[in-house]
Amino acid sequence: MTKEIINIGVIGLGIRGRFLMNTLLEIDNANIFALCDPIGERLEQAATDVVSKTGKKPLIFADFNELLSVKEIDAVLVCTTWITHCKIAIAAMKAGKHVGMEVGGAASIEECWQLVRVTEETGKKFMLLENCCYADNELALFNMERKGLFGELIHLQGGYEHDLREEIVLGKENKHGRLYNFLNRNGDLYPTHQLGPIAKMLRINRGNRFLMLTSMASKSRGLHEWILENKGKDYYLANKTFEQGDIVTTMIKCAHGETVLLLHGVSLPRPYSRDGRIQGTKGIWLEDGNTIYLHGISPYNIQTCHEDPHQWENFDNYRKTYRHPLWLEYEKKGIKEGHGGIDYLVLSAFADCIIKDIEPPIDVYDTAVWMSITCLSEQSVAMGSMPVPVPDFTSGSWINRPELKPSKYSLDEVHEDLFI
Ligand SMILES: NC(=O)c1ccc[n+]([C@@H]2O[C@H](COP(=O)([O-])OP(=O)(O)OC[C@H]3O[C@@H](n4cnc5c(N)ncnc54)[C@H](O)[C@@H]3O)[C@@H](O)[C@H]2O)c1
Repeated sequence: MTKEIINIGVIGLGIRGRFLMNTLLEIDNANIFALCDPIGERLEQAATDVVSKTGKKPLIFADFNELLSVKEIDAVLVCTTWITHCKIAIAAMKAGKHVGMEVGGAASIEECWQLVRVTEETGKKFMLLENCCYADNELALFNMERKGLFGELIHLQGGYEHDLREEIVLGKENKHGRLYNFLNRNGDLYPTHQLGPIAKMLRINRGNRFLMLTSMASKSRGLHEWILENKGKDYYLANKTFEQGDIVTTMIKCAHGETVLLLHGVSLPRPYSRDGRIQGTKGIWLEDGNTIYLHGISPYNIQTCHEDPHQWENFDNYRKTYRHPLWLEYEKKGIKEGHGGIDYLVLSAFADCIIKDIEPPIDVYDTAVWMSITCLSEQSVAMGSMPVPVPDFTSGSWINRPELKPSKYSLDEVHEDLFI
């Protein structure tokens, strides 16, 4: 692509879509050309945001197919609901648009394959907008791992643990998509925030792959209790059974023997955490507690003059020392709003791959396998935690894929030379 400005259509203007759209307005190469949502009020609010910031009125549509028929549009952001993302992304690529797709889990393996095949057939850029891959903490840890500080990776853990009871239960009133998933499904419904950075660290799809998983779901009580406490016994959902277990635990085995533990729990009272753990032959980092221990680096016990494996260190100094150059540069330019600045970075990465015509840092193979964990975990839970195989969406090429062009936004390597 030789264009310097990308005309973008934003599809889905709930809280997330509207927020991302506003973040996109901060990106120099992006022009909001059109908006789409079947809810007229949301469409009008978002259009007003664009007019007030740019003075230009975007085209507006209730039907995404109409937006896709606008030939001036180069790319779309898909920010709808979990079960509509893939369908819209596929239609968009078939209509000749590049796609940045919001996160969520897959409903079926078939839709993941369709996403892969249509991306391959159309040659369009497809990127999952997994913003957590660009978090300050995650990128500092990635930088440390690539410098070998954890040694050989053995076990990684992550969670989506968050009190979302109100948002889920009030789904009908607030026209929000999560509710119907929690009523009907049971598995790790939202794995990518934690799994994305883990998969990148493990070089999944580039020399490594997920082989199989097993999932177990706890009983479901949190949403029911919240309803009784906050809405009363006459509320329309008071006697409904939520199929989704309060805590779903998934274990994944990788081709080179590493294990991954994922936790999903959003229906019990608790503070937010992605519950990270990185453990290798030379050390361990734990998100909760903000602690680290590195063999040969963490302080010696001054009494015994030996390493003291019982003593954790605070992670803060490591985060400063090993901060990713992308964040050092970003801080100098001024960090933008949006989940601590990560939304701007992920959208910049998307715009960058279109403008420079390079592979997206989170490509369709990453997307397919990260999203597939949801429906595979549902299958495993349904079969009493039976192990289920994880498909290889690269069709074998994970063993020897061509190297990517260096990019500041790379999630495969840290290209320090590009920041000088
Ligand atoms: N990356 C992040 O940090 C982050 C944060 C929040 C949400 N999300 C993701 O973003 C997505 C949207 O989240 P939300 O909270 O705004 O959800 P939401 O359910 O409130 O909004 C979705 C919007 O999409 C619209 N929509 C649904 N089907 C459509 C279709 N066929 N065509 C056009 N519009 C359609 C709905 O009318 C609604 O306005 C979800 O997938 C969510 O998982 C990501």
